[in-house]
Amino acid sequence: MPPKEIEPLLGGDSSLYNAKPKKTDKKKIISYAVHVVTLGLLVYLFFFQTPSKAEEAPSLDPSKKKNVIFMVTDGMGPASLSLARSFRQFRDELSIDDILTLDKYLVGSSRTRSSNSLVTDSAAGATAFSCGLKSYNGAIGVTPDKKPCGTILEALKLQGYFTGLVVTTRITDATPAAFSSHVDYRFQEDLIAQHQIGEYPLGRSVDLILGGGRCHFYPSTVPGGCRSDARNFIQEVQESGQWNYVGNREQFDQLESGKNVSLPLLGLLADTDIPYDIDRDSKVYPSLAEQVKVALTALSKATENSDKGFFLLIEGSRIDHAGHHNDPAAQVREVLAYDKAFQEVISFIDETETDTVVISTSDHETGGLVTARQVSENYPDYLWYPEVLLNSKHSGDFLAHKIASFASSASASGKKSSALDKFIRSEILEKDMGIKDYTDAEVDLIKSKAHDVGNLLYVLNNILSLRSQTGWTTHGHSAVDVNIYAYTNSPAIKKKLFSHKAYEGLLGNHENIEIGAFMEAITGVNLEQVTKLVQKTEHSPAKGKEELITEQGIYGDEFHQKIN
Ligand SMILES: *[C@@H]1O[C@H](CO)[C@@H](O)[C@H](O)[C@H]1NC(C)=O
Ligand SMILES: [Zn+2]
Repeated sequence: MPPKEIEPLLGGDSSLYNAKPKKTDKKKIISYAVHVVTLGLLVYLFFFQTPSKAEEAPSLDPSKKKNVIFMVTDGMGPASLSLARSFRQFRDELSIDDILTLDKYLVGSSRTRSSNSLVTDSAAGATAFSCGLKSYNGAIGVTPDKKPCGTILEALKLQGYFTGLVVTTRITDATPAAFSSHVDYRFQEDLIAQHQIGEYPLGRSVDLILGGGRCHFYPSTVPGGCRSDARNFIQEVQESGQWNYVGNREQFDQLESGKNVSLPLLGLLADTDIPYDIDRDSKVYPSLAEQVKVALTALSKATENSDKGFFLLIEGSRIDHAGHHNDPAAQVREVLAYDKAFQEVISFIDETETDTVVISTSDHETGGLVTARQVSENYPDYLWYPEVLLNSKHSGDFLAHKIASFASSASASGKKSSALDKFIRSEILEKDMGIKDYTDAEVDLIKSKAHDVGNLLYVLNNILSLRSQTGWTTHGHSAVDVNIYAYTNSPAIKKKLFSHKAYEGLLGNHENIEIGAFMEAITGVNLEQVTKLVQKTEHSPAKGKEELITEQGIYGDEFHQKIN
């Protein structure tokens, strides 16, 4: 028997599915085909300008000083780029050939499956890059038979490179963890934090950490802390002088864009995630681009008199979260924030004299996003409405919390439900979301979930997706191929990069592990040797914790941890 599909798939109420959104603007979106042709042309021009120089390129010397910058757009598929590109063209009144910075550096695409599923999670996805091997969903720097595998970050650190991790989610989350720790399951974040500060056979492998995720660095007795033991790493590492710690925007600003950094630097700027860019208060949290600037400046300064460069991992972590939430308004802003960070890296590469390469890719797609949606039984018009995303000023997650907190205070103060009704209509739907054509049924549905943030955000995001005619097929991940972008100032690296052969370069379509292999090849490291050095790492969950694996599932807990 096939599984019964919930109808409608993601909305929560079938009556909403038939609501035909009002057309708010005559300005229709020029067809998808134009973008495809434009992009195709750019890719064509990009490649056909280069070969004569590449042919004369010197051969690659793995031991030559170089910087390797690896960037991950967690959960960003091709449709996210279409969405963000068209959104920005609409917002800034740009021409249809205006593209993202990323678009200019497209070299290929990556196949993303893990060792045990056609649909990967971020843990197996990141392990494919960091260890250069396929492992199972949930695996953090371990092989399919749960043995720690040496990572590119560890290998380069052992060679004398400086290393950094910059993210917008918890630093203990899957992507940064798979480069800097080894555990059987991604939920072992207490142990991941322990490895990251240097308590494992290699000692400290990371020189610079910037992101969120204080939670697993201090005990649950401290507000915001969530370690299950009593250890307070933030206090310990400062007292022992092992790390310089930065914990808020004011201290971050004292880093002076990276010119005033003493490594090693532990910068944890939020207990869990740094807020979505659409919600981010810039007085409280830096942008991803600002974090990247600090990291690039600090790491290049630290290596200026060395014969080794640096390895930096940068993750646009929350593109994935917006995908899980099916939130198109939050996602376009996440993609644009990442694009700015990417531009920061390109500018760095254009200015530095050290051979530097950046590779940017996704671990997988999230949400099954498509830039079209049939919203009635009638044959659909060919369009979608970016203005709907522009009118919305916050993420569904933020607004769901806002409604829930109003609902609790209203019930505590004994206010009638009419106060909540009015709040939802005028404050949330009209003011925050910019929606005027909401129905009573939609208001009632929001009210019915006012205390259920996890489902409420789905409802709000669906109201928005419906009106923008943005389609989602899942709250999880999908198996669609994702893009690979790359740029370098080194002719030798460029020549290798632009080979289409498997395990040679990254031009065309490649398996995700080839990206790990590429970083190994250009730096000449041997991950198997590192694997021997990390064999004794403590990596298994504590007895009694194994049941989490079956209870929550490896796919499920990723999302639920995030909204909690
Ligand atoms: C540089 O950093 C130190 C702390 O490491 C701080 O005391 C000092 O104020 C910073 N300098 C500036 C100009 O922000
Ligand atoms: Zn995800």
